[in-house]
Amino acid sequence: MSYPWWHVPFLTAPMLIALIATVHVLVSHYAVGGGLFLAVETSHAYRHKDERYLAYLKQHAWFFVLLTVVFGAITGVGIWWIIGLASPLATHFLIQTFVFGWATEWVFFVIELTAGFAFYYFWGRLDPKTHVAMGWIYAIAAWISLVLITGITAFMLDPGRWPETHNFWDGFFNPQFLPQVLARTGGAFLLASLYVYFHASFRCRDREHLRYIERRSSRPAMLGSILVAVGGLWWFLMLPESSKAALQGAAVINVLMVIMFTLTIVVFALLYLGPYRNPGWLSPGFAIMFLGFGLAATATGEYIREAVRKPYIVYNLVLGNQVLVEDVPRLRSEGFIEGTTWPSAWLAARHPQLTQRDSEGRLRIDEQALLGLPAEERVDIGEVLFMYHCNDCHAAENGVNAMAHLLTGWNREMVATSVRHPEQLKYFMPPWSGTEAEAELLTDYLMQLRPELPPGMDFGEGPGQPLSMLPGNDNASEEVR
Ligand code: HEC
Repeated sequence: MSYPWWHVPFLTAPMLIALIATVHVLVSHYAVGGGLFLAVETSHAYRHKDERYLAYLKQHAWFFVLLTVVFGAITGVGIWWIIGLASPLATHFLIQTFVFGWATEWVFFVIELTAGFAFYYFWGRLDPKTHVAMGWIYAIAAWISLVLITGITAFMLDPGRWPETHNFWDGFFNPQFLPQVLARTGGAFLLASLYVYFHASFRCRDREHLRYIERRSSRPAMLGSILVAVGGLWWFLMLPESSKAALQGAAVINVLMVIMFTLTIVVFALLYLGPYRNPGWLSPGFAIMFLGFGLAATATGEYIREAVRKPYIVYNLVLGNQVLVEDVPRLRSEGFIEGTTWPSAWLAARHPQLTQRDSEGRLRIDEQALLGLPAEERVDIGEVLFMYHCNDCHAAENGVNAMAHLLTGWNREMVATSVRHPEQLKYFMPPWSGTEAEAELLTDYLMQLRPELPPGMDFGEGPGQPLSMLPGNDNASEEVR
């Protein structure tokens, strides 16, 4: 299956996924933890006939419904839109692999929405038992949603035995499943308490009552912290080798790891010193800072979790540039353009003289003739190859991981080598899946993108022999430079 690429200037398409998914995660964990909070606490308040607490919980339920059911649901649907556009092959793959998983998830999502609205809108009109039951139905459905989605997203990091068996359950209960369910459940408890502190510090005027709310939520938050720590450590220990390597080898991820650990420790410390040991610290300022740190730690963790999957979108199965691992050898021998629907149609329309249909009606491309095209034509084809091969992680001239900046001052030979062996340059890049001639055209494109060294930085030829030219590189047209 071959899909067209989607060019998002500056940001690159996958970064849009990262943005919207991160915002969604910050709210969706609250959707789970907050649901449990409301179910447990309304039940507690009814049992103790605590009208004051019930009144607060109703206010909180309004905030909760607005943020999670409305905003959370919209961003959730937004993720589907964006992944369908930015990562069509991987989305296709995940839908096909987990059709019934998704279907079940949507059933629970509908239950969740219905129970959530009933819980809030029928407040005071349902008898306490039914009301609390609604809260529990919401909370359990929301947690099951979390479990179902985690099974599928954890599969992307490590599909376990699925590639051999193609069995749904092998894929779903993958090695990353339990660690991630544990960490996410903990994150849900912890974030929910931070949201409660945030809301209560503004809405609850009575200091004494605020202290009561603070104390009620500190235990689940402490439990959440423990689950996050255990789940996070377990996640790390279970990481596939390639992800451990990416975690250690990529500078950006190193920095983010430090930030995440620091923020997480700060949140734990504040939680212990503040609400747990000294209820009474809570002011709107403290609550904003606390929630801000919690959200920042979660967002960084989420980003790292996504980033360590490189070079894969689905480990060992789908590569980061929308190529199936099993297709790499075929694309290398047939050619990327010939082997994919959209680029071959594009080339046939643009250079009909280079393509012909074989006896089975398949489009064949004259690879060597590609190299005989004039320089601008080669660059144009190179750009198409770039969009398919590299654009998922590199903007061209400016923006995320921009190619032009990375290549400043590189000579043709270095560019040519990195195109042919990206996975050797940085092991979190997918391998080249095209022919020698196509690699040449991409090199042409990159060479005209590449800026010269800044003035004063040219130190001349170093010692030793000039690097030998790569095989096939004698075609490298100097005119392109
Ligand atoms: C799955 C994501 C991904 C894809 C696809 C990808 N790259 Fe990269 N590439 C990266 C990352 C991440 C870096 C590291 C950037 C950094 O160090 O800041 C990188 C770095 C580079 C560098 C600089 C290496 C260095 O040592 O500084 C070059 C050159 C490069 N990529 C070329 C390419 C080319 C050419 C393609 C397409 C054939 C490609 N990349 C496709 C993720 C990718």
